[in-house]
Amino acid sequence: MSFQHLLKASEFGSHFEWGVAISALQNEGAYLADGKGLSNWDVFARRAGKIKGGAKPSVANDFYYRFKDDLMLVKALGFKVFRFSIAWSRILPEGTGRINKEGIAFYHRLIDECLLLGLTPYITLYHWDLPHELEKEGGWASHQMLKWFSRFVKICAEEYGGKVKNWIILNEPMGFTSLGYMLGKHAPGKTSLSLFMSAIHNAALCTAEGGRIIRAELSNAHIGTCFSCSEVMPFKDTMLDIAAAKRADILLNRLFVEPVLGRGYPEDPQFSFLEKLHLHTKAWKYKERMQFNFDFIGIQNYFVLTVKHNPLIPYLSASEVKAASRKAPHTALGWEINADSFYRMIKRFWHYGSIKEIIITEGGAAFKDVLHKGRVADEQRIDYFKKYIAAALRAKKEGVNLSGYFAWTLTDNFEWSEGFEAKFGLTHVDIDTQARTIKDSGYWFRDFLKT
Ligand code: BGC
Repeated sequence: MSFQHLLKASEFGSHFEWGVAISALQNEGAYLADGKGLSNWDVFARRAGKIKGGAKPSVANDFYYRFKDDLMLVKALGFKVFRFSIAWSRILPEGTGRINKEGIAFYHRLIDECLLLGLTPYITLYHWDLPHELEKEGGWASHQMLKWFSRFVKICAEEYGGKVKNWIILNEPMGFTSLGYMLGKHAPGKTSLSLFMSAIHNAALCTAEGGRIIRAELSNAHIGTCFSCSEVMPFKDTMLDIAAAKRADILLNRLFVEPVLGRGYPEDPQFSFLEKLHLHTKAWKYKERMQFNFDFIGIQNYFVLTVKHNPLIPYLSASEVKAASRKAPHTALGWEINADSFYRMIKRFWHYGSIKEIIITEGGAAFKDVLHKGRVADEQRIDYFKKYIAAALRAKKEGVNLSGYFAWTLTDNFEWSEGFEAKFGLTHVDIDTQARTIKDSGYWFRDFLKT
């Protein structure tokens, strides 16, 4: 693909924002430091068998204490944007009620350091770590969520709004609602259709309301929210597989963005889950409240999915046909690598017509890295970024208002239920000594960003 070989960062234009993203739970550690309360993940990770290798996020990669050094890394790699999330349980240890001044102070220090180094901060308000006290009350499935979240958002806006212009409301609502409340793989480990549907609805309401709160508090803010997306392909060209792919597509790609755009939840008489969701949430009453005119939409595309009809899977009646079994290129997590599909997803979001600006708020891949004589030669990751960045450029050149690309992620970190085994960093971290080693992909980025 010639595009890829000629790839130059300058082709994206001088206003294009190149960044790197992290999240609080995956990086900070210091899980009880300075008055922080427990999060749902601190508790979930203690349950036997939930996290690979029994890993816990208590220390993670110690970002709480090493953030100055890590921001120097961001700078050294040539990024101009730093996206991070706020741990709700540092600000409000019980989720509601009393504010923890020391938690507030930490993010002031972090933001100040970004500004000192000339890095533009993007704050994610919620990246999957909920105060444990709120999870005990039902978490995202509780009808109180909107009230709890609104207060948290308001506090953050009042505290940091004078320094930070860029805000992201929720990170991938499909991720934490489905994995947390339906599939039981993430905190809080629940497996209930009705909790899942409640969580979906509360997340949809919080997305729009979060946008409104930031807009009311900070009139000049640049406000977005992020969605995961994955093109879904039928395994075989049969009616059953095609219908299975369509159902999965609705869940993975349309369920959250369409309410934000004012279309309400998708409808499809062939997919009984949707009818249940409409009834369960009384969706017709909330169409307007789920809508918000975001300045940008963040897209995060980690894989393309191939599915086949499978009547044993409740509601969805579809299951994945793994990339490895189809001999398709894939990452260490088995996720299919397909940059053309990424390009198509960007175009597809753009085709809604009402999205003003798109940012790739995360992009990256896990590979089996080896640290050998002080070097990580992660050629596969470099190749991945070359292909995906070329695909983004193609979409941009075809008219998509694509304004940024944030690599996932700065350092190897706590990869949720995969523990420390899945490595996405541009920098290797020895989890015992916390020593950082920039990988070849980090150097590749540094050099690429100069072109
Ligand atoms: C999440 C990240 C996660 C990454 C890789 C994204 O869905 O936002 O927190 O580390 O995927 O799994």
